[in-house]
Amino acid sequence: MLAMTSSSDTPFLESVERRRPGTSLRGYVTRTLPHSSAIVVANRAPHEPRPEGGFTRGAGGVITALLTLAEVAGADWVACARTDGERALIEEHGTTWNAPLIRTETRLHYATPTPEQYEQYYSVISNPVLWFVQHYLWDLANQPVINGRIHRAWNNGYVEVNKQMARKVVEVARGLPGRPLVMVHDYQLYLVPKLVREQLQGAIIQHFVHIPWPTPQYWKVLPREMRDAILHGLLGCDIVGFQTSLDVRNFLMTCEENAGLAVDEREKAVLVDGRVVYARAYPISIDVASTTRLAYSHGVMVEERKLRDWRPEHLIVRIDRTDPSKNIVRGFLAYEKLLAHHPELKGRVQFWAFLQPSRQDVAVYRNYVRKVRQTVQRINAQYGAQGWQPIRLELGESVRKAMAAMRNFDVLVVNSVYDGLNLVAKEGALINRSDGVIVLSENVGAHEELQPHILSVNPFDIEATANAMHQAIVMGIDEKRRRNEGARDVVRTSDIARWITRQVQDIRDLAAAPGLRAG
Ligand code: G6P
Repeated sequence: MLAMTSSSDTPFLESVERRRPGTSLRGYVTRTLPHSSAIVVANRAPHEPRPEGGFTRGAGGVITALLTLAEVAGADWVACARTDGERALIEEHGTTWNAPLIRTETRLHYATPTPEQYEQYYSVISNPVLWFVQHYLWDLANQPVINGRIHRAWNNGYVEVNKQMARKVVEVARGLPGRPLVMVHDYQLYLVPKLVREQLQGAIIQHFVHIPWPTPQYWKVLPREMRDAILHGLLGCDIVGFQTSLDVRNFLMTCEENAGLAVDEREKAVLVDGRVVYARAYPISIDVASTTRLAYSHGVMVEERKLRDWRPEHLIVRIDRTDPSKNIVRGFLAYEKLLAHHPELKGRVQFWAFLQPSRQDVAVYRNYVRKVRQTVQRINAQYGAQGWQPIRLELGESVRKAMAAMRNFDVLVVNSVYDGLNLVAKEGALINRSDGVIVLSENVGAHEELQPHILSVNPFDIEATANAMHQAIVMGIDEKRRRNEGARDVVRTSDIARWITRQVQDIRDLAAAPGLRAG
């Protein structure tokens, strides 16, 4: 099997040296990839119009990371028009505008599916089907039922929107100088790499899968036509990036088992149509400098002052989108056990769940919010007493409030059923200032890196989760500090710059070896 010298195992210090001290990440990227024009391709745009006017940063940790990536790569950005606000602006200004990133701007190009096509792509296939498959969320004895509605949404929504996005990428790439470097993101856009490869044979194409990649057997929940299209769509890439080494292994097994392809386990590569496709793990991270700056900002201090007015002796925190994969209800059931087993904590502990409503146009997500509320009401009614509310549930979006919560937790609960990486765990590890302990699901990508410094739990076991919460509360200060510092060091040394430089080094190595790529 042909081999690319992979630098994905390059130690961080070495990659820092290769960046040369004093040079910016942007300088490093442009010097490393001098002949490429980069295009970031994502479902969401970097900033989106708000219904009440103005713009807001696209939701989710993925967008935050992509802002940095697009900025340092000087990339154009291809997104999908999702909302009426975006459609109205496109009507007025056309499909290409300048849009802000962090300090610089990008050329933003929109694909414009009809609202019906978007709905089928996003609300029927991407979230209720693909997200559920990849987070193992089905109750398989009953779900999913793949009926005509799903087949139609696949063809008229998912396949169609992917085609429109790929057409837009090709159009943009043809207008840029140099060799196109196309960086596609996440499960909404699995078909794009192959479609782009058919039109732009000399392009370097990478797809980064932000969520878990399940086992070959689990993919078989999907009809062959869908799972084959997903796999072959991704195999249009030169490199497929994942969050963990387990995802890489599962991907290689899926290629072998479900598509009968030749796989080289040692090189972590697949041979397809005479081309080599590499699978690599690049755990995503946060921008340490800007997250730290934000954590010390005036707005966060204001929120911290408010928090001091009601802060209990022991503050348990969770910050999540209201997504069934986050396992919010079991988190409350575990807390209920904690109160039942340790009545001495009543009145001295509070669980602050700061939750961001998510995907409320998808029925299963609306029902989940209802279940979360009902569980909180029941536990508060059963255990609450004399002005003490066991759970403080807040639904809303506020980065400052989330930061204040992360600076002050005694226990941070991240008990996802499965999770690609989970940036909340990394943000919490970096900015907590109260010797807090993280209770972390063993099925979260960040577990691979943070494991020695956190309390690991099986997310389905509410007794074990309750015990971990208790252990975190009663842990001695020295051990808390040791863990806290250990977790913080992991994030400091593996920050967003490392996520980017490792990918860029692999792309550079690939570009320098043109013989490896049959056109
Ligand atoms: C996760 C996914 C992203 C997604 C984000 C927000 O992080 O990996 O692709 O953008 O959630 O979800 P939404 O459906 O609101 O874009």
